[in-house]
Amino acid sequence: MPKNILHMLTPHKHVSPFDVNQALDAGYDSVTPYENVELDEVSDLVQDVIFSRPPDHGVNSAMFFGGDDAVLALDMIDAAKGALVPPFTCNLMADPAGSFTTAAAMVAKVEKALKEKKGVQLKDTTIAVFGATGVVGYCAAVIAASEGAKVKIVGYSGVDRVKKRADEMKERFGVDVEPVDGSSDEKNSQIISDVEVILSAAKAGIQVLSKEQITKAPKLLVAADVNAVPPVGLEGIDVMDDTVKIDGCEAFGIGALATGVFKSKTEYGLLRQMIEAEEGQVLDFRHAFELARKLVDEG
Ligand SMILES: NC(=O)c1ccc[n+]([C@@H]2O[C@H](COP(=O)([O-])OP(=O)(O)OC[C@H]3O[C@@H](n4cnc5c(N)ncnc54)[C@H](OP(=O)(O)O)[C@@H]3O)[C@@H](O)[C@H]2O)c1
Repeated sequence: MPKNILHMLTPHKHVSPFDVNQALDAGYDSVTPYENVELDEVSDLVQDVIFSRPPDHGVNSAMFFGGDDAVLALDMIDAAKGALVPPFTCNLMADPAGSFTTAAAMVAKVEKALKEKKGVQLKDTTIAVFGATGVVGYCAAVIAASEGAKVKIVGYSGVDRVKKRADEMKERFGVDVEPVDGSSDEKNSQIISDVEVILSAAKAGIQVLSKEQITKAPKLLVAADVNAVPPVGLEGIDVMDDTVKIDGCEAFGIGALATGVFKSKTEYGLLRQMIEAEEGQVLDFRHAFELARKLVDEG
């Protein structure tokens, strides 16, 4: 039997130890890190991988793209896809900073909470995403908008940077999201007064909304936070809260670790999907959401 070999690429100084552990636990026989990789180096690396094995062993090789930039990781996947020379192939997967699987798990958890606790579909909600210039918030916004929700991306430093992100999302994924100015507590309270869902994906250890702000949001149905480092992003939602009613209002809260369990299961599941594949897989945050949704549904 050919060995299952994973080549793990990052544009940074280190690959993520989290991803290395996940890959070996999922069943890879070997994981090799490639660091400081630039976009124009991807094609040569892919062709070195695919031509080393006969075509029918192509699916036993895989390339994983890390880093902390969703767009760069997707560009690397595109470059890798373009370098395949059928029938020579390999599997390709991106999950920069765990963001694709984290965003997928967060949106899947929110979708289930909306359905089960409020009888509401994700597509019928308006969502405010905090931290959308970051890699997790960015993906969560694209996934939610792709599912039909009305998404606002909140810029804590004003509207300019989130406007650029919104333009990029439109160009790359064809989704419309609204950039909004969240540069003060008053502006944030105004933004959340009009949404059914809050997704908080801001930097670790940063509180973005107080309990008072959250409990006063009149239409709020579900709020989810992925920051597990104190103080949490949404005050009053504990990291362990798994669709728990928020004290002081009728909305439900989902904490970082309740999402984290499904983030890990999703990453593990995508890695297993590559190991078990009979043809080359190309896996990004859309596949992560598909799998996260299934895993969350199964409970
Ligand atoms: N639970 C899980 O399974 C899991 C897995 C992975 C990550 N995470 C968590 O997910 C969160 C986002 O991760 P990431 O990798 O996307 O982080 P990131 O790249 O550091 O992005 C964080 C976002 O927060 C913004 N931000 C920085 N300071 C802020 C402030 N004072 N107020 C509001 N927003 C602020 C950043 O803006 P700038 O553009 O200015 O930097 C960016 O938009 C982190 O809390 C991380 O720990 C959770």
